Amino acid sequence: MDINCTEKELFVFEKIARAAAALEAPVYLIGGFVRDKLIGRPTKDADIVCVGDGIALAHKVAESLKPKPLVSYFKNFGTAQIKYEDWEIEFVGARKESYRAESRNPEVEPGTLQDDQLRRDFTINAMAISLNAPDYGQLIDPFEGINDLEAKIIRTPLDPLRTFSDDPLRMLRAIRFATQLNFTIAEATLNAIREDAPRIKIISQERITDELNKIILSAKPSIGFDLLYRTGLLKIIFPQMVDLAGAEYIDGHGHKDNFYHTLQVLDNISRNTTDLWLRWAAILHDIGKPATKKFEKDHGWTFHGHEVVGGRMVPKIFTKLKLPLNEKMRFVRKLVEYHLRPISLTKENITDSAIRRLLFDTGDDIDALMTLCEADITSKNKQKVKRYLEDFELVRQRLKEVEEKDKIRNWQPPITGEMIMEKFGLPPGRTVGDIKNAIRDAILDGVIDNNYDSAHDFMMKKAAELQLVPVK
Ligand code: CTP
Repeated sequence: MDINCTEKELFVFEKIARAAAALEAPVYLIGGFVRDKLIGRPTKDADIVCVGDGIALAHKVAESLKPKPLVSYFKNFGTAQIKYEDWEIEFVGARKESYRAESRNPEVEPGTLQDDQLRRDFTINAMAISLNAPDYGQLIDPFEGINDLEAKIIRTPLDPLRTFSDDPLRMLRAIRFATQLNFTIAEATLNAIREDAPRIKIISQERITDELNKIILSAKPSIGFDLLYRTGLLKIIFPQMVDLAGAEYIDGHGHKDNFYHTLQVLDNISRNTTDLWLRWAAILHDIGKPATKKFEKDHGWTFHGHEVVGGRMVPKIFTKLKLPLNEKMRFVRKLVEYHLRPISLTKENITDSAIRRLLFDTGDDIDALMTLCEADITSKNKQKVKRYLEDFELVRQRLKEVEEKDKIRNWQPPITGEMIMEKFGLPPGRTVGDIKNAIRDAILDGVIDNNYDSAHDFMMKKAAELQLVPVK
């Protein structure tokens, strides 16, 4: 078999072959490594299957490498792993039992190579390459995975319902591979996903979200979301997104299908960023629309406040999906809440103060917000798109000018809450906040200059209005 291996890989495979020969355990490369080599995709970990004891083989291989790597192994599962330089190699003995990644009591029954190939998820993941002397390098492909690889098809080696019942996560894996590789899912396999979709509920949220994130990080994530939607999986794992689908008509007025709009925004942004969280912001930017949708006689369809409602949904969705509830979540929420702001700045006669306010509110996230807003332009009218993009260029220009002049990004007003409390002997509370905000607004609005003296004078005036007397 002609696959392109690095010298390091060939060196280690040679060691594995020798160790396996000494143990009289036929050995094969299998799974994702073989698949990715055959399509010329960068490979990560290598999976090795031997007809015999995988753990014993891992130990034997480790002994032949310098420096000798550590072997981590799981006796229950009959699997072992070694790290060689930056590379992970997994060893397993060929088995008959179905693949149960999370079962605590796997009944590991030794089997032939073919048994092992049969229990795997897809034909393109079940190909093996021999590392044994008589047929070293030969592809062993009983389910014609190579044809599926060429025809770009995801198909299970067994009856798909059987393969999916062994591990329902495979339904998501099918969609993930279809998205990453731009493959089609075979009809019978796709029908089985539709039929078996509710069984995804027995899979842990972590494993589901892991696959979802891999779909999101693909070059064209819409492929995956469209499949998730059409198979019914999305309704189960992420119902809020399904609520975006469809267009309603009243008196001949329709609104756009916000599900497909969202997918377009996601694909757009994916051309400009590989950041998972910015992509999540694209997915969630209109998530508040179904809850705020109204038909108003004079305006047609409106979604007033959808950015605020959507922002509030972010922590709930992150909690459910077991996504992190840290600054990543706050970043996504902020982008959802602010996603209409730059658009409102494309109108004429925008004051410096409006620009300063946006810079102050978004801080370091202004560039991410602008990327999101540009991706949000999905009109079919090319003229319109061109005009919007030009408008955005102007906003960018203004943001740059105002920032250079006023240094608002990450700016803190020159008078702090502590200063106000000390000056007037006030406890923390509403009055302090009111004065502080008044100073900040006066600077952002250009009423006073951005320096300590002007802010101090302004504070004294404001305090006098409130009949406060300085204590020192
Ligand atoms: N496998 C399986 N069923 C699963 C998970 C894995 O049959 N639910 C098998 C497949 O043969 C797969 C191999 O185990 O190729 C290794 O799994 P994994 O490392 O998760 O996936 P890869 O195919 O290597 O792809 P990737 O690294 O992109 O996830």
